Amino acid sequence: MRKIQFFDTTLRDGEQTPGVNFNTQEKVQIALQLEKWGIDTIEAGFPVASPGDFEAVEAISKAVKKMTVAGLARCQQKDIDAAYEALKAAKFPQIHVFLATSDVHMKYKLKMTPEEVLASIDYHVRYARSKFEKVQFSPEDATRTSLPFLLQAVQTAIDAGATIINIPDTVGYSNPTEYGKIFAYLTQNIKSDQEIIFSSHCHDDLGMATANALAAIENGANRVEGTINGIGERAGNTALEEVAVALHIRKDFYQCSSAIVLEQTKQTSDLVARLSGIPIPKNKAVIGGNAYAHESGIHQDGVLKNPETYEIITPQLVGVKTNALPLGKLSGRHAFSAKLSELGYDLDSSTINDLFKKFKVLADKKKQITDQDLIALVTDKFRRS
Ligand code: KIV
Ligand code: ZN
Repeated sequence: MRKIQFFDTTLRDGEQTPGVNFNTQEKVQIALQLEKWGIDTIEAGFPVASPGDFEAVEAISKAVKKMTVAGLARCQQKDIDAAYEALKAAKFPQIHVFLATSDVHMKYKLKMTPEEVLASIDYHVRYARSKFEKVQFSPEDATRTSLPFLLQAVQTAIDAGATIINIPDTVGYSNPTEYGKIFAYLTQNIKSDQEIIFSSHCHDDLGMATANALAAIENGANRVEGTINGIGERAGNTALEEVAVALHIRKDFYQCSSAIVLEQTKQTSDLVARLSGIPIPKNKAVIGGNAYAHESGIHQDGVLKNPETYEIITPQLVGVKTNALPLGKLSGRHAFSAKLSELGYDLDSSTINDLFKKFKVLADKKKQITDQDLIALVTDKFRRS
């Protein structure tokens, strides 16, 4: 089985979520939980960006024991120097250098020619390599870069000493077929006498961040970047918990493993939701409040007979205690009577039938029926009879 490394950027790209601002103590708390979750590399921040980011990267470098700690740097000497200083205490430090390579970024944002961009990559990756053993390079906006130029940029970074090449879908523009092809093309065409790790980095503007990351893995990426709960700039990043669980559940297809401790998923996700102030949508894959809830009668009946009928992930796998069969107007008699038993009522079937009719009338008026509603129905029935 091929092992996929997990690179978490919740504290860097994730913190670019509008309104999110973790303090150093919160960042250390998240970093320690990510270490428990099994993350291989944590991007702790962008040290040159602010004194607070610098301090957090330094604190995380001191606090974590097993993970590689990465710091982000533009192709600027002062950024690389700041990352070097902030990561001094890390047991396994890594720098992440990036520069945009798409026409639109080179022309309007950087105001640099393609030749100048290649020269800057060469110079700054070499400079980074003089300070770090492990250098990662990202051609920003890679998916809107022409393939021949992308290959040139990546080859320049490799020749200058980068051993990790990350391919950002910066604006979430790509789709799985296209994104996969970029990895197939690059892995087949780069020249290196060293092992090069290819990494995916996707944004979710078109809702394809997880699918794109998985397509990259299918086409040679050995590392995936993302954030917890998919937080990040605009529509966010690849949600790492989705990739981890997809690789596990569809091991038959992907034939890949990871170091992620899946049972710690819910705890990790809850911590990030609480400290970021970004609630998890109920219908979010893997960790949403409804991910293990079944409301329709047909589904509830199936799940009561055998959960595998409608659950491809057992809730316990990701650290959720149990599934739920919330009662609503579409619920069936099976789940209704199971709930009454759970509440301690041992009723004959004609009583249950009678109560079930009353429950349906009530359910038509309410979005969801609570335990209190059911207790009231039973109490009322026995008071009348
Ligand atoms: O999305 C992006 O391009 C980035 C880079 C800094 C890697 O986050
Ligand atoms: Zn990004």
